[in-house]
Amino acid sequence: MTVSTKVSILDLQRKKEERQPISMLTAYDYPGALLADEAGIDLILVGDSLAMTVLGHPNTVSVTMDEMLHHCKAVARGTKRAFTVGDMPFMSYQVERGEAVRNAGRFLKEGNMDSIKLEGGREVADTVRAIVAAGIPVMGHIGLTPQSATKLGGFKVQGKSAEAARRLLEDALLLEEAGCFAIVLEAIPAAVGRVVSQKLTIPTIGIGAGPDCDGQVLVFHDILGLFDRFTPRFVKRYADLRQPILEALQTYRREVEAREFPTPAHSFTIDEAEMQLLNERMSE
Ligand code: KIV
Repeated sequence: MTVSTKVSILDLQRKKEERQPISMLTAYDYPGALLADEAGIDLILVGDSLAMTVLGHPNTVSVTMDEMLHHCKAVARGTKRAFTVGDMPFMSYQVERGEAVRNAGRFLKEGNMDSIKLEGGREVADTVRAIVAAGIPVMGHIGLTPQSATKLGGFKVQGKSAEAARRLLEDALLLEEAGCFAIVLEAIPAAVGRVVSQKLTIPTIGIGAGPDCDGQVLVFHDILGLFDRFTPRFVKRYADLRQPILEALQTYRREVEAREFPTPAHSFTIDEAEMQLLNERMSE
């Protein structure tokens, strides 16, 4: 795959077949998308995790359709190569199928996304089918589904018993059958991630689902050390940017207070003659 051509669903499928790992990362704004795209990430997800990482909410349930679309538009402007995925927020697809299809359509028409993602297994299979029938590519998301974390008893690893793992596999197969082009597997034992990935013909993208998924996804702010309210075990921090950013901001404040900034190098000049004229006018 060359760096400049847009990633397609067929590329992702081929990567699975050729056992080439797929990279996916969240992005929430234009500069983040530019960076993720330039880094060669295959899939950029505008995750509803932005409720927590960018908007400061305690969980993901409160983010609205309009807020998600606002961020999708910015990410789309910064993305040339990656395949983009817009995350459907809580209550935008659970109540009524027609509403789910309309809201999914808004991610493509208004948010300029290539596809959507929604959470859930068998209970959303018919909704997935309806959205796919409308021509909208759908990514599934099972295991730990943050929108229903309260119902699951908190942010807990899923699929730990043989029965729970079997249900998870069934859910994955039902989503594949409903037309999903890929499925996120979140916070499940690595062995379960491996079995589900082997049984599905579509790519699996793991987050805390072990090394044998067809791809991996992490949250932008987590891997850069920008979000430290809590860090799940499955996160790897590739940089710790919070401290250098804080130090830069403190240095700026100190320089302003000490009148060390701006210097002549950051200032504009006026002609000597013009300045003299101005002084004369001012003293009239
Ligand atoms: O919202 C999000 O960021 C996600 C990923 C963690 C998969 O759903």
